[in-house]
Amino acid sequence: MSTVDEVKQKLDIVEVIGQYTKLTKAGRNFKAVCPFHNEKTPSFYVFPERQSWHCFGACSTGGDVFTFVMKKEGLDFGETLRLLADKVGVSLPTHIEAGPKKDEKDKLFQVNESAVQYYHNLLVNSSVGEKAKNYLLGRGLTMKSINDFQLGVSPDAWENLLNYLKEKGFSENEMLDAGLIMKNEDGRARDRFHNRLMFPIRDARGRTTGFSGREQDGSQPKYINSPQTIIFDKSGTIYGIDMAAASIRTKDRVVIVEGYMDVIMAHQYGFTNVVASMGTAITEKHIAILKRLTKNIALALDPDKAGEEAMTHSVDYENTAEVEIMVVTLPADEDPDEVIKRDPKIWETAIANASPLAEYMVNFTASKFDLTKTTEKSKLIGQLIPLIAKVKNDLRRDRWLRTLSKLTKIEYNVIEGLLKKSLIDTTARKPLNRSAIVPVDTIGYNAREEYCLAILLQHPELKKQEEGLQPDYFQNVVNREIYCACLETDDTAALKEKLEPVVREKLEVITTKHTPADRVGVKYTECVLALRKAFLMNQEAMRAEVFAMETETGGAGAALARLKEEGIETSIQLKDVFARKPRVIRRANGRRNN
Ligand code: UTP
Ligand code: MN
Repeated sequence: MSTVDEVKQKLDIVEVIGQYTKLTKAGRNFKAVCPFHNEKTPSFYVFPERQSWHCFGACSTGGDVFTFVMKKEGLDFGETLRLLADKVGVSLPTHIEAGPKKDEKDKLFQVNESAVQYYHNLLVNSSVGEKAKNYLLGRGLTMKSINDFQLGVSPDAWENLLNYLKEKGFSENEMLDAGLIMKNEDGRARDRFHNRLMFPIRDARGRTTGFSGREQDGSQPKYINSPQTIIFDKSGTIYGIDMAAASIRTKDRVVIVEGYMDVIMAHQYGFTNVVASMGTAITEKHIAILKRLTKNIALALDPDKAGEEAMTHSVDYENTAEVEIMVVTLPADEDPDEVIKRDPKIWETAIANASPLAEYMVNFTASKFDLTKTTEKSKLIGQLIPLIAKVKNDLRRDRWLRTLSKLTKIEYNVIEGLLKKSLIDTTARKPLNRSAIVPVDTIGYNAREEYCLAILLQHPELKKQEEGLQPDYFQNVVNREIYCACLETDDTAALKEKLEPVVREKLEVITTKHTPADRVGVKYTECVLALRKAFLMNQEAMRAEVFAMETETGGAGAALARLKEEGIETSIQLKDVFARKPRVIRRANGRRNN
């Protein structure tokens, strides 16, 4: 038995969850007011026999004891494993990041920390920093903010930091590896940042991973960032996360802005759940990190960017990451820091009035059509229906329909009819026969999951295949963790680096597995469908169990209706799995013959 299984076996899910929320007995199971969303009537259930939980309310999500603790505590898998193993007295191999790598990283954190002190001291305590300090104060920052965010200034010189760090005992190589200095063509080392306002970029644990330097004299580019290093990866970096994490969790919302100044000003005025994304587009990595803290993500980006973001990824993020994305509309031509400084009330109102993605998207798309013309209206609807059909959550889908109906002045029922028709066209008509539901195959699942991962590890390009594999499909928590790590990188060495030792062991096993020699794509698809089917059947079995129990005990009408609806939803998705299987294979065969 693996260490993770041992931990899981020693834990009682009822006891663990019972420490976070009051559970009451409901037949063989337990129910509670959902600890993840606000509700009056309980729709959160714990299934001791399955050692799983599910919220049939707004969250419409579930998992095992690991996912519960991860969500509730905002921890990653490794941290959760450590916490739970500790609880049941299972000792884990210490998390030594392959020896030298760990030392190397620590060294870079240290050299960065010295640079932070150097730049900060120059800003706050020297005449060299006078101009920069006055600039920041002039923009409305307080000394407290400057200290909290450890802002600094780099001097208009070439070797000052280099010499300072040398005196502190760091080698040129360490400075190079941290991106603090660079080499000229003639091999001479010099400071990377000159005459810039320095913003240290810190990770969730408050360690400085890199810097961003803003010009003070109009030189281009406006911001210079540290290069990619072994501790600095721009695409997964969230500025302000160390200051904001606790607040994001308590407020159950995060607001993403574009600029560092915006983050700092927001914090200064008490809006402490604000972070920024380093000027890059919002990536799956960002969402994955934030999702551990909250499911409610508000984008306060400038309108062009927000529109673009929404168009490209947000609908998918909402579906697959199960997050709720809102779009904040700010006064035109003003950055958040200016708005907040002018009148924090305006900011507060803008956040409170954020539009759900659906509303924003409908209006955004509609702005491209002339809605006084009937033909344009139907074009708009035609364009949005496929998007709406992708929306998995009932409440969210309703919101899309309502917004579209209001805007086009076409009755809700008519648009809903069109949507249903499009759904029926792509799935079979009859709802799934209840007796067809069999208990989940719990014996074969681990082998299948491993097989699936083995294929994926050898053919990372399959990750992009349309039959998207979702982390939730994995019943085995270690397999799930490997899959999640896989999504973040195609590089096996980097993958190993990311994983906990116990997970790494499993990875080794999986990489030695035999994978198909031909028709890999088809076999992968089949495998994903099988996992999806097992997942859906498991969901359905839980739902049916709760439904039967609630009906027997005369449960609330609304709750029953909701459960019933979810049943229909699952049936549709299951039908989809069955309908897809032959089609996929036929298509793939066709391709082979070409
Ligand atoms: P902005 O140009 O809007 O700057 O870029 P800003 O944050 O409003 O700065 P102030 O208010 O003029 O001082 C927004 C963000 O995009 C990234 C930075 O993260 C910046 O905060 N950016 C911008 C870069 O990384 N490089 C650039 O050259 C420009
Ligand atoms: Mn700005």
